[in-house]
Formats: sequence, C-alpha cells, structure tokens
Amino acid sequence: MHDAHSPSRPAVSRRSPGLSGRVRVPGDKSVSHRSLMLGGLAAGRTRIRGLLSGEDVVNTGRAMAAMGANLSREGDEWVIEGTGNGCLLEPEGPLDFGNAGTGCRLTMGLAGVYDFETSFTGDASLTKRPMGRIFDPLRQMGVQVEAAEGDRLPARLRGPEVANPITYRVPMPSAQVKSAVLLAGLNAPGITTVIEPVATRDHTERMLAGFGASLEVETDGKGVRTIRLEGQGRLSGQTIDVPADPSSAAFPIVAALVTPGSDIVVENVLMNPTRIGLITTLCEMGGDISLIEEREAGGETMADLRVRASDLRAVTVPPERAPSMIDEYPVLAVAAAFAEGETVMDGIGELRVKESDRLAAVAAGLALNGVDHTEGEAALAVRGRPGGKGVGNPDGKRVETHLDHRIAMAFLVMGAASEHPVQVDDISIIATSFPDFADLMNGLGTAIEPTQVPE
Ligand code: S3P
Repeated sequence: MHDAHSPSRPAVSRRSPGLSGRVRVPGDKSVSHRSLMLGGLAAGRTRIRGLLSGEDVVNTGRAMAAMGANLSREGDEWVIEGTGNGCLLEPEGPLDFGNAGTGCRLTMGLAGVYDFETSFTGDASLTKRPMGRIFDPLRQMGVQVEAAEGDRLPARLRGPEVANPITYRVPMPSAQVKSAVLLAGLNAPGITTVIEPVATRDHTERMLAGFGASLEVETDGKGVRTIRLEGQGRLSGQTIDVPADPSSAAFPIVAALVTPGSDIVVENVLMNPTRIGLITTLCEMGGDISLIEEREAGGETMADLRVRASDLRAVTVPPERAPSMIDEYPVLAVAAAFAEGETVMDGIGELRVKESDRLAAVAAGLALNGVDHTEGEAALAVRGRPGGKGVGNPDGKRVETHLDHRIAMAFLVMGAASEHPVQVDDISIIATSFPDFADLMNGLGTAIEPTQVPE
C-alpha cells in the first residue's frame, strides 16, 4: 500500500510480443467516489457493485464513515447506510484524502457548508494543488475558510447556520468544481444554480437525479449547460453497478494499439459521452477499436471494446475535446510517440494542476525516452517514431512520476512497444486508481517488472 512514507518502487517495462486476452479494468473512479458520497448521505441503504478499491476511493469511504455513514462489505458488494441529507456528523479529526483531488474537493462541497468544522489534508501531491477554485464558491455560500498559503491544503472549513444558495459560473472546465457546488447546494435552502460554459463529466448530475434529488439541466444552442438543484430534499439509497473506468481502460487500449500483433478485449467500459474523447481520437488516428455489445445500465452506457494493433497516424486534437479526455493526455502522448507524423494537443493547461504538472512530467518522460516533442504553456506536440525505433532509454534512466499514477502507467505502456526498455521511478502510486495494473497488463503479455532501488 502506498503512503507518504513508503519507499519508492521502481519498475521497468520491456518490448513485448503482441498482447492478447480479455480483461476487466477496475470500476470508474469518478463514479466510485460519488457512489460512496451520495450513498453515505442518502437515507436508507445503498448497495454498490464494482466499486474501485483503489486508495483514492478508500479515503472517500473513510471520510464518509467519519461523518456518520455506516459502510460494510457483503461479498463483492459494498453496503452503506447513509445519514440522510442534511444529517452528516462533525468529523472528530482531519479528513485525509491522500492523493485524491476528487475525493477532497467534492467532500469540501458536501460537508463544508455544514454548521460545523471540517479539516482537510492530503499527500505531498494534493497539498500542492490549487483549492481556491473550491473555496471561492464556498465562501459565497457563507463558508469560512482557513487554508495554507495560496489556498492550499491543509484547510479548515466552517459552514454558516444557513448556507446561501448561489448561482455560480464555473470559471474553468472542471467537473470537480461543478460537483462541489452542487453537493454544497444539497444543504442550502432553495435553488443552487451552476452554469457550465464547457460540458464536463456529468456523473454528479446523473447520480443526484438517480438518488431522487430535484435537479434540472438545460443546454443552450452554444452548449452552455445550466444545472439547477433544489436543496434540502430527500435522497434515498440506491443500487449502483459501477462500470469499468475508461481512464484506466486507456492503458491496455493504447498498449494493444502500439504493440504489433495485439488483439484484446476490454470489458464493460463506461461509454458516457463526456468521457470517451480518447477513443474518438485514437479512432481518428487509425486505431482499430470496435464496440461490442453496447448496453445501458443504471443510466449509463457501457460496451466491450475489441482493440487490435494498428499503424497510427498523427492528428490535431481539437481543444474543445479536452474535458472529455482530460486524464488521458499522458497515454495519448505515448500513442503519439508511435504514430506517423506530429500529433498536436492544445488547450490542455489544466494538465498543469493535476496529480503532478502532467505537461511537464510527460515532456520530461518523452525527452528521456528519445521522443521528439515541443512543450507549450498549454500545449504539447509529439513527433512519433513508428515501430518504436530509438524509443526507450538504453541507459536505464527512470521517468520521474511525481506521485502521479497516470504518468507511471503511461510510460510503462510505452515500454511494451519501444526498442529500448522504459523505466519509471515509482509504481506504488498506481494503487490509487488501478491496484492490479502490472498483473493485469502482464496477463495480456506485457513485461513490466519491479527493479531494485540503487544502494
Ligand atoms: C474528475 C474530474 C477531473 C478529472 C479527475 C476526476 C471528477 O478533474 O481530472 O480525475 O471525478 O470529477 P477536474 O475537475 O479538475 O478537471
């Protein structure tokens, strides 16, 4: 298990023959966090199947338990007895969210407006990330915020006696900010309105409606969404099936596309339109990805994806697609490293405030592994090397992962098809979102192995 004090676990990924087999990647992280939060808040019992058991989600479960929810396990289901909307209890100690921005920011919305004190903290990555984007709307709702310099963690929030329902235009494309305001609105009298100029993942809206909240979504001709939530309504426990995470599926998908001879199936992948920008982009690049058995369940679409090795061509990714693939740029950069031509990604400034500065981390990893690229303030251009010739690091130098699971996984995928091995400095952080990553990938045919830390 990863924690702030665990030693680094470096690993190497070596060129592999074609990948084959069927896999199911863990449950969707965004849906898992929200299931625990709304299950912990709703009256009655919520049953969750397919919940991601990554550390990020475990921390959210702990936070909900600290505020009065009762969580237990029955076979492969999680069962939660919620407190009832408006009835969270004051937690006794600080809520530690580890590496998880989503868990932390959404819970700040959910609990921050209560007329009690909540304290929030996290690991060395999370304490560097900007929290002002959540504090600003919460302050407007009447929350007093005490935070470390620059509106960072650790932070202490105290809600007002009665929270002010606000109208808030989200200033950056962020599902976390949108969701924090909506979850805060659950405990404010009247209508809380969120205006979202650029659509982002809509799991909060879908799930709130599923739990019985009174919520309306209107989309105008320009795609601007207005979400109105009536606060202080009743939420009732639900049964939730969490589909597989498209952001985790991205790793075996790209590995299969770039490794010659591959033919794999990734099962049960969430196909919510706000999440599948990477699939669209890979198909435009000539990726052979087919959807088998698209189906609906619990208000979401999912499908099995068959992926075969493909000669990829560079594309320019439209900036307006960024929100639907925001977590997938590191692995897209890896796909681009094997594509013919220059792949251009623009409008991706938000990557600088993820678990690491992902633009810088990806650029450094590409440089270390012989891939020609240009890093802009909010852009990245990658010039590929079809066949992986010259890609990898013959001297065994390690990519710095900066406590970022997706940087670690993306570069391990690169090693499957690169001429030289690719090494990363720490894979322990992968447990935040994809605990069995190396085993699952090696089951398909990759060669990912731990290496020794130098004395
Ligand atoms: C998430 C929203 C995105 C994404 C994160 C999960 C969510 O963050 O990067 O991994 O579940 O709402 P932002 O809201 O910061 O874009």
